[in-house]
Amino acid sequence: MNPTLVSSPPSPAQAARQAFAADLQRALARRPRAISPKYFYDEAGSRLFEQICELPEYYPTRTELALLRAHAPDMAAQFGPRVQLVEYGAGALRKVRLLLDALPRERVQFVPLDISGPHLLAASAALAADYPGLALQPLVADFTRPHMLPAVPPGVRRVGFFPGSSIGNFTPDEADAFLRLAARELAGGGLLIGLDLVKDPAVLHAAYNDAAGVTAAFNLNLLAHARRELGAEFPPDGFVHLAFYNPAYQRIEMHLRACRALEMQLGGERYAFDEGETLHTENSHKYTVAGFQAQAARAGFRPGRVWTDARSWFALMWLEA
Ligand code: TRP
Repeated sequence: MNPTLVSSPPSPAQAARQAFAADLQRALARRPRAISPKYFYDEAGSRLFEQICELPEYYPTRTELALLRAHAPDMAAQFGPRVQLVEYGAGALRKVRLLLDALPRERVQFVPLDISGPHLLAASAALAADYPGLALQPLVADFTRPHMLPAVPPGVRRVGFFPGSSIGNFTPDEADAFLRLAARELAGGGLLIGLDLVKDPAVLHAAYNDAAGVTAAFNLNLLAHARRELGAEFPPDGFVHLAFYNPAYQRIEMHLRACRALEMQLGGERYAFDEGETLHTENSHKYTVAGFQAQAARAGFRPGRVWTDARSWFALMWLEA
């Protein structure tokens, strides 16, 4: 056999590119066209997302931080005296600092999970510098799959932290699967979860259609990412950001909408869009406190305390596992 024909296993970057190409091709070939929101998050996408969190119209981040600032000691009191705190989808590790500030350093082990290794290690290093002596064990993992969490010694409760209403970006089936998995791995402990609540659709609409156009740029970055990574070809001004509240599903939907009849080329195939046809890029489900508590109860949690702002726009919820 000619050794030059033996293919070596793909690098993680190559594997990721192949998965993106396969998923995008599949999305373009079916109706309705829909793709996983995870492809927003290349480097440019992650930067835009950080900017979204600062927007005047985007109230969730600000509201959740204020709730953590006001009630972290109360929340920590639910956890118990000794905890292994597991954050699902760690991001910048900004919010958890408010919890850590309310927990005695020597009584907590912190395990941030994230699918992006470089991102997780950078955020963990910054946290370690600011929290000397903190027992910190970052874990590169897909938080929708079972994890190899460090064992908890007797007397230590495992507590999950899932802020940002990120559960709302799952499909209802994925959200159920996540809750069931979390209820199993947090058994004996609990979950502190952040949820964006159902409210006036005008407020929701503004949050996902900011005046500065950052959310539009974030959405459109999925296509830019496909052009950079996969060589996808399409008219540069052919698509626009579309975000609206769909009350039947209690969710904001984000789409990329073709503003005229056009073609996209990817991997030697051509995909035709009619004017107005969309690629559905994300859902952001909104909740009622009672509705989410019922959903969590079906997955094996016992609902506990709820912290919400004066306008009831956002909630942090404690669930016993
Ligand atoms: N999970 C949050 C939300 O749905 C943050 C988020 C994810 C987001 N993707 C987004 C915010 C796209 C704006 C646009 O609101």
